[in-house]
This record gives sequence, C-alpha cells and structure tokens, in this order.
Amino acid sequence: MQDKLRNLLGTATSRIDGVAKVTGAARFASDEPVANPAFAYLVTSTIARGRIGSFELDRAKAVGGVLDILTHENVGHQAKPAPGPDGNTSTTTLEDSRIWHDGQIIAVVVADTYESAREAANKVEVTYISESPSATFDSEGTETEPHSIEEGPDPRKGDAAAAFASAAVKFEARYSTPTQHHNPIELFTTTCAWDGPKLTVYEPSQFMWGTKAAIAARLSLDPDNVRAISRYIGGAFGSKGPNPRTAWIAIASKRVGRPVKLIPTRDQGFTIATYRAETRQHVKLGATRSGKLTSLFQEGWEVTSRPSGYNVAGVDSTARMYACPNIATAVNVVHADRSTPGYMRAPPETPYMFALESAMDELAYELKMDPIELRRVNDTLTDPVAGIPFSSRSLMQCFDKAASQFGWAKRTSQPGSMRDGDWLVGYGCATACYPTQIGPAAVRVSITAEGKAVVGTAGHEIGTGAYTTVAITAARALGLKVEDVTVHLGDSDLPPMMLAGGSNNAASAAHVVAKACEELRRRIADAAVKSSDSPFHGTNSDALTLVDGELKGLTGQSEGLTVAVRRLGHRLEVYAENVPAGLPPTAIADMAKGRVTMLGGTERKDVTAFAFGAHLVEVRVHSRTREIRVSRVVSAFAAGTIVNPKTAHSQFMGGAIWGLSSALLEETELDVGTARYVNRNLADYLVPVNADVPSIEVIMVPEQDERVNPLGIKGIGEIGIVGMNAAVANAVFHATGKRVRDLPIRPEKLL
Ligand code: MOS
Repeated sequence: MQDKLRNLLGTATSRIDGVAKVTGAARFASDEPVANPAFAYLVTSTIARGRIGSFELDRAKAVGGVLDILTHENVGHQAKPAPGPDGNTSTTTLEDSRIWHDGQIIAVVVADTYESAREAANKVEVTYISESPSATFDSEGTETEPHSIEEGPDPRKGDAAAAFASAAVKFEARYSTPTQHHNPIELFTTTCAWDGPKLTVYEPSQFMWGTKAAIAARLSLDPDNVRAISRYIGGAFGSKGPNPRTAWIAIASKRVGRPVKLIPTRDQGFTIATYRAETRQHVKLGATRSGKLTSLFQEGWEVTSRPSGYNVAGVDSTARMYACPNIATAVNVVHADRSTPGYMRAPPETPYMFALESAMDELAYELKMDPIELRRVNDTLTDPVAGIPFSSRSLMQCFDKAASQFGWAKRTSQPGSMRDGDWLVGYGCATACYPTQIGPAAVRVSITAEGKAVVGTAGHEIGTGAYTTVAITAARALGLKVEDVTVHLGDSDLPPMMLAGGSNNAASAAHVVAKACEELRRRIADAAVKSSDSPFHGTNSDALTLVDGELKGLTGQSEGLTVAVRRLGHRLEVYAENVPAGLPPTAIADMAKGRVTMLGGTERKDVTAFAFGAHLVEVRVHSRTREIRVSRVVSAFAAGTIVNPKTAHSQFMGGAIWGLSSALLEETELDVGTARYVNRNLADYLVPVNADVPSIEVIMVPEQDERVNPLGIKGIGEIGIVGMNAAVANAVFHATGKRVRDLPIRPEKLL
C-alpha cells in the first residue's frame, strides 16, 4: 500500500487554497469575525532591566472609550507562568514588576476602538527602578554557562585535541552571526472570545493543540473548554507558538465581557515574540594533505535571556556532516538582559553551518583543493558520531547535479581571478542539510458516494502549501481528483497534529492520511467482496484498489465508487492515528496535552536521518564601491519523496533567498548601552527585494529512502536556508580574496 502510494505522489499541483489567498477569502486569525469586539493595545517597557516602580493611569483612563487597563497590579496573579523555554519567550510579562528586557509587555489597554486604546496606551505613565543592562557578548554583567540540552552531551568521538595537534594541515577560525528577527508579515495577533466557560482563541499558531493546552494550563481551564483557531498563517518560521500574550487577552475579554482583539504593531513584534539569537563559533579542522579530515572541533556561544537556558546547539548537526575519526563540540549560553530567543527557520543549522561550511571552504584554499572535491573526499554514508548509517545521503549527487548546471568547471581557483568589466566575479558553494523528523498525528477522513472526500486534522498552513499536500495524499490514496478533496486544518477541534516545526508536518500528515485512506479502502473492499451484486464477490479484498473513481481488481474488473461506497451508506468516515516507529504509544495523548514528541534526525537508534543539498552561488562585487550582488544561484536538494514539486520548489527557493538575506542583509542592530533594538521596523531591518534576488535554479535530485519513514518523505521546510549564508561568503572570498567571518557581509566590510 505504502509503496504504491509513494509512487503516486510527486505530481506538481497548484495550491488548492491559492484563489482564496489571492482574493482575500482566506481568513487569517484576526480576520475571523467576532461580535462587538473591544481592542487591546500593548504598553511595552522602555528599559531593559529593573522594576516597575509605579503606574500613573489617570490620563490614560480619561481617554474616551477606554474600558480597562491590565497591569501586574490588577491581573498579575491571574495567570500561571508561561510555558517553558521550548521556543517560547519565557520571560514574564504582566506577572510581576520585574523587567527582563526592553520592549517587555507591561500593560494592556482595552478600549472600544483601536485608536482609543492606542491613544490611552501612549498616556500610560511608568516610573521605573532602572538598572544598567547587559546587552550581549562582551557586555559587563553577562553570565556564561555550558548549556544542557535534554538530548544529552554535545557530540564527541576520539581525541580531537591530540588529532588536531598532530594534523598535517591545520585550520582554525572564529565566526559570528547576528540577532535576526522573523517578524512575519502577519502580525502577532490574538483575539479571544468567551461563551460561558468556553474560550475561543483566534491566533496564528504553529501548534494548534499546543496553543490550546498552554492557554488551558495558564488559566487553569479544562482543555475541553478551549478552542484555538488559525486556518491560515501569514508566515511563522518558528515565531508563532504558545506564548505569554494570549492569557492577558483572554483575561481582558473576561473582564470587559466582550471579545477582545489584539493587533500588536510591527515594532512591538521585535520584542514581544522570539528571534534568532546572535552566536559565536570557534572551529578547528585538522586534515591530511589529501584533505581527509582527522579532527573536527566546533564550539558555539549563544545569547539568551537571564532566566532561560534556550539554545539551539547546532553542533548536533555539524558534527555529523563529514567523515572524521576525532570530533569534539561544545555549546555555551550567555545570559543577558534580553528576551528569550526562539526557533527561526533551521534554528541550529543556519548559524552553525555558516561556521562549518565557511571553515571547510577556508581549508580547501589551504589545501589548494576544489571545495566540492574536499566535500567528496570527506563524504560518508555513516554518521561519524553515532557510527550508524544515514537512512540515505545523496549529498554528492546534489553537488554534482548543481555543479554541472551551474558551470562550476569554469571556476578558476585563485581568488580575484574572475572578472567581468568593473565587477569581480566569485563562485562559492556549501552543503545544506536538515534533520528529518516525523511526529504523531490523528485525522478524520470521510468519503461520499459522489466521490468527494473531506480530510480534517489540526495541521498548519504556515505558507508551505499544507492544504495541498494533504489533499494530494488523500486524492492519490482514494483514487480521486485533488479538487474532489476538501481539507480542514488550523482548528484544535480537529484531531491533533504535531507542531509545524522541524520540517515534520508533510511526513506526519501524509502517513496518517494514508492510514485513514487505507482503512476506508479496506472497508469499501470488504463490503464489495461480501456482496453478491459486486463483480468482486468472493474475491480477496486485499487485492482491490481505489483508482480513478473506481474500485478495481487485479484483472481489470471494476465497480464505480458510487456503488461501492453506497453499500456502506451515503457517507463513510474513519478516524485514524499514527504513531511513527520509535515513539511511545502515549505520543498522541502527549501531543494532545501540548507536548512535542517528534522523532528523527540524530535521535534514532537504527539510522541517522537527514536531508542534504548543495548551494552553488555566483556573486559580483564592484571593484571600487564593493557593492555585492548575488548574480546566480543553483541549489540542488535530495529530500526523499517530494509530495508536491510545485510548492516544494517555492520552499527551496524561498529558503535560498532567506539564506542570501542572512548572508548580506539581515541584522537586528542593538544599542549596547541600553540593550534596545534600533532598527525594529521593516524599513531599517534589511531584507532582500526582488532586485536583490537573481535567477534561482532549484534542482530536486530523485531519492528513494526506504528507512526514513514508510513513504520516504524527508521534509523540506527548512533545508533551503541552510548553508546559503556560507556559500555567499565563500563566493565573496573567491571574488575578492577578503574573508568575512562575521555576518552580515556588507560593502564596508570589504573596503
Ligand atoms: Mo521551525 S524554525 O522548526 O518553525
């Protein structure tokens, strides 16, 4: 069944929700109509460390239409602490008078209109008891400690120090990556509405059941009385999960006896939500003269808040990239007066692969070796840390396909040796990778005698095309057209789905949908073989398949779906759960309680599961102004079964564009004295516009992986960004001979 289905996936299909999205019919959370809403506006702190001494609220309360002002003094005790450091801001908001970071939520003003709430919020006066903040690395008063990830100690093997000391060729360097903010186009909105004891929360969420569980826990509600809805999400990238804001809007709604709608501003999004922490990396590589790695050492430092140990520890991935007998890694967290960072697309790999893939490029120059050849010499089908096989690894196939398409052979190795008029031309490359995850999932699928199917699961359309991949899977499994499948996602009243993170959702959803559809097929086929009026009467039901709107046998007989389904009634519905191999049987119940229980990557006993890719980049650097243009990109990926090549192409391309952005443009700038962000808006926070993005060619290298999961789906949400920052940096070095180890690479760093 699963072999057959695997072969049916992979037809390029336009988004089934495309028209709804471009015509405005798609409802994002804040578009959902609620009766007579009041509006909330946040007051945020203007200091980064200290306490609130007092509020002066009279002027704010005097604004016409103001209904309520929530502060720690009147509601602080009404919510339990926000959920832990699992990618959520765990610094307090209104719980007490403590200020942990600049831009912390300290009051919520509720009024009849947005304008009144905003005017009143601007009239809230705060007296602070202020302390001098520590902003980031090297700031006085930060505290550094070795991290502790739940997964265990940092990867190590052999004796990396001794092997480095005796290596024929040694390379060592330090790299850094800046604070970055995803701050997606859809703002961090929350709308809460009560109906007696029942609370409905309309809020963009990457984990519908997680949001439901978190708000129930914070407000001591029966989870059955909480419903979370976000049918469409305007970008998430790791920033939209359970969070500390929701509880205050729910409390506000109860206090004013009306639904309350919060639409925070763009600049508030830089401090009330999570972000990518700045990192520092120290890499040491030892190699033989022929380029075989003998020692790999990587140590990272990551900035986090005072109370949270949040870190991404990307050495878990980088330590496994290449064959190497001696590996040592370490990660440290640096506590500063900042909000807790969180997941941002390929959270560990984006910064840590920048360091490793830059270092590999630097080593290639030391060795006078082609950088692709250096990766080939060190390619391996065995995870060098765990000593178990990769489920599949098509890294060199990706490099070879991309290199031939790109014309890599035209590269002359000497930096600064390729020129086009006033422009210095450089070619660079880097490896992309992402661990493959799969999570538990549940679904309800129905089919009618008219050959229409409805699929419902609390999955997430964060822009990736989830509605379409779910529809494709059900359509192929049931022998229907994609347009005959209706998909419902984004509602915690639907069966639970694992959070949309770690690139797991395509695999998690496809497997549970396949399971439900197989159960439908079995019931339809069983009824047919038992029925004297069916051509299949008395035959083996296992041999019957659903194809092109018919029930078909091995030898060409068929029966229309209408007849076959009607035997069981007009509409047939099944509920299915899937717990992937290796997860505990309680995985569905745990997920329903908001726990993240996915499995894969480096956590399996039998195989290490990663998708791989290769970015090849051409840059042009102006010989006098040092303006940097990325002029060509060819990226190849092998990620197992691709459910929908059309949306996959967009995912890969979007990832590459974001990687380009991370290489050249993005940085949230910090005023170190005050620990405040200075460019918290989309005008000053640089992201690429169309003119910055060249032709990007995406190659999907066919890969069949029998071990990663039954349908061989590796997930593609994040891999596109990984390594792209290094590929651009490597190309800039090739063009100019100037190595930039601190992102972003701006023209002034090349002068
Ligand atoms: Mo992601 S950063 O796992 O949403």
